[in-house]
Amino acid sequence: MRKFSEVFKDKDFLWGSGTAAYQCEGAWDQEKKGLGEWDYFNHKSNLNINHVNGDVSADFFHKYKEYIDLLAADHQNTFRFSIAWDRIIPNGVGEVNQEGIEFYNRVINYCIEKGLEPNVSLFHYDLPYELAIQGGWLNRKLTDYFASYAEVCFKNFGDRVKIWCTINEPRYYSYCVNIVGNYPPNRKLDFQSYFQYQYNLMLASAKAVRIFHDLKIDGIIGIVHDNGNVEIDPTTKNIKKVHLFGDFFYNRQILCPALLGKMPEETEKVINDFNCMLYKKEIDQKIFAEGKGDYLGLNLYNRQYLTDGTDKETKVFHNNKGCKSKITEGIRIKNVFETSFDPNVKRNKWGREELPRVMYTALKEIQQSYNPNLILITENGHGGYETADSKGFVKDDKRIELTSKFLHYLLKAKSEGVKVHGYYHWSAMDLYSWINGYDKRYGLIRVDFKNNLALTPKKSYYWYRDFIDQYFSGA
Ligand code: BG6
Repeated sequence: MRKFSEVFKDKDFLWGSGTAAYQCEGAWDQEKKGLGEWDYFNHKSNLNINHVNGDVSADFFHKYKEYIDLLAADHQNTFRFSIAWDRIIPNGVGEVNQEGIEFYNRVINYCIEKGLEPNVSLFHYDLPYELAIQGGWLNRKLTDYFASYAEVCFKNFGDRVKIWCTINEPRYYSYCVNIVGNYPPNRKLDFQSYFQYQYNLMLASAKAVRIFHDLKIDGIIGIVHDNGNVEIDPTTKNIKKVHLFGDFFYNRQILCPALLGKMPEETEKVINDFNCMLYKKEIDQKIFAEGKGDYLGLNLYNRQYLTDGTDKETKVFHNNKGCKSKITEGIRIKNVFETSFDPNVKRNKWGREELPRVMYTALKEIQQSYNPNLILITENGHGGYETADSKGFVKDDKRIELTSKFLHYLLKAKSEGVKVHGYYHWSAMDLYSWINGYDKRYGLIRVDFKNNLALTPKKSYYWYRDFIDQYFSGA
């Protein structure tokens, strides 16, 4: 039996990288895996604009040893990945698939053998299709189905996995499903569903946390939140209102239940002003109170830069086409707030801000407002178009430049008392990027999707190894 107390015994920091099941595993119909909502969407929907899917992807399912060997040789000491619910319970509820359990046993055991602490997410966007057609996360029954699935995982892997995440990015996931409409089942500007989805996701997370604690699993569990650090454009007239609504919308409805064990006080007011309501029960307060996480996982790429809402129609701006589109990402919510454009900040090809200092501001603010016992940066990285030389080598200087700045700010926050003790670069290898397909690359390791999935570490892979070495040698 491994002990959590050993995780930080010889080291004060976890350095690793991450993946998610649908994005890298492939083997979508092998070893009795059930059909997933994303399998269905990518095979059947004309909204799959890139006409690619995760059927094979980086084939982590078969090549996991090769990947883990490379990560260990990069001197990483941890690896973040997710479990596909439909590999463990093909219909989402009911019968357990032993072959799925065995696959994750192989991955977990190999990570440990190679000195990589496994950090496991139970849900990273990939809902079993059978549950998707029962209303997905709008259906409260899923909160219990999820808790049962989580229990199966705790009982099978809890002796070895010491770091758990219940749900990856409930906010951003719900935003893409219900507001942008680019994730299945593709609802657009449906705020009622947006709030309800998140509410049920947080309830599901709390129920799983409670079971984890009741089972007395030796380890930590929490949610992974997409950082939505709100900054207000100085020309904004109604700063208070924009901040209240923006912070609720991007952070508080997730961070309050996750870290404080209750929905934020302003919930009713804000939800009413959005003309929405939450379908909740009195018992939920107790569920949230008993389902507080042990730590916070933070996916940190950028901030939310907001200004006053106008009376112009509500609209969402999203770029799924990279340099083929000129769209800058954001949202306009009539009379509430809208995303402001900061001309002084550079943007990547998908219209997202490149602003490494938010690593510092977000960490400081979260530590001050919620005082978590531990923060892990569970994602951070750079997505871009990339070309390799004839040997498959990619000189990804841009990734190195941005990551080193992000890490500078992380270490600055740490030196000032923020309890951040881990960083996972997104992503370990090139993988399927939701909606953006395989054009947008995030990996430290290049995957040649056109040539037998050949693997070649990029320049950033070597840079990261040297960075980790220097950190531990105190240089
Ligand atoms: C995070 C997700 O929001 O962002 C990852 O957890 C995702 O799964 C990453 O790949 C990058 O997003 P995108 O859309 O640029 O691939």
